[in-house]
Amino acid sequence: MRLFMLGDVYAKPGRRCLAELLPGLRKSKSLDLVVANSENAAGGLGLSAKLAEDILGYGVDVITTGNHVWKKKDLVGVLKTEPRVIRPLNYPSPAPGCGYAIRTLPCRSRIAVVNLEGRVYGGDLDCPFKAMDRLLDGPLAGIKTILVDFHAEATSEKKAMAYHLKGRVSALVGTHTHVQTADQRILDEHTAYMTDLGMTGPHDSVIGMDPETALYRFKTARPNNMKAATKDPRLQGAFITIDKKSGKALKIERLDLALRG
Ligand SMILES: [Fe+2]
Ligand SMILES: [Fe+2]
Repeated sequence: MRLFMLGDVYAKPGRRCLAELLPGLRKSKSLDLVVANSENAAGGLGLSAKLAEDILGYGVDVITTGNHVWKKKDLVGVLKTEPRVIRPLNYPSPAPGCGYAIRTLPCRSRIAVVNLEGRVYGGDLDCPFKAMDRLLDGPLAGIKTILVDFHAEATSEKKAMAYHLKGRVSALVGTHTHVQTADQRILDEHTAYMTDLGMTGPHDSVIGMDPETALYRFKTARPNNMKAATKDPRLQGAFITIDKKSGKALKIERLDLALRG
C-alpha cells in the first residue's frame, strides 16, 4: 500500500499546492490513501466547513487537525457528521467529533488514521500515551494498518511516542512545527517515523506567517492581526509504503515539492 501524509496545509498557498499538485501525485505514485493535516487551512488559523469540503475534493481521504481545530465554529458540525475529518483524540471528554477514522480500500484492506495532540508547550489535555493504549486495545483492535499524526511542539514528546508505539502502529509522524525534519526511519522494521512532516504552504515566511507581522509581535510583545505569507508555496510530507498483510512499514520517503508559477 502506498500512503501519503502531508504537513500542515497553511492558508491559500497551501490549498493551491493541494489543488494543483495532489491529483498528479495520486496518479504518478499510485497512492491508496492521502492524509493531510489542515488545521491552518483557513488563513493560517483553523479550518472551516467549506474549506474542509474543498480539501476532500482535491483528493485528500482523511483530514487531521490540531490545536487550532476549534477556531472556526462551523467546523464543529463537520466533526460531528463527517467521519473523514478528525480532531485530536486526547481532548477531555465529552468533545465533539472523533479522534480517529477507519477507511476501507477497494482491495478491502482497512486503514485507521489517528490524530493526537502533544502536551509539552501545549494545552491541558488528556495523556496521549494512555489515550493511544486505550484506542489500540479497544476500537482499533484487529486493524493492522494504523497511521498516527501526532500534532506536537516538542521533538522529545514525539520521539517518546515513537518508542511507546513502535511495533504497534504502521506509522507515527509529527505535525505542528511547520518545519520538516530529515530523520525519517523505520523502527524495529515495523513503524515508520518522522518527527515533523513540515508545512504545505508559503515557505518564505515565519512558519507560514508574513515575516513583518511575525517580527512586529516579537519586537513589541504586542498582538497584531495575523497575516499569512504568500511566497514560495511548497507541498511537504512523506510517502509511506506498507505491507498490507502485516501492516509493517517497508519504506518512508520525504517530499518537499515547490509549486511553480
Ligand atoms: Fe499548524
Ligand atoms: Fe498546530
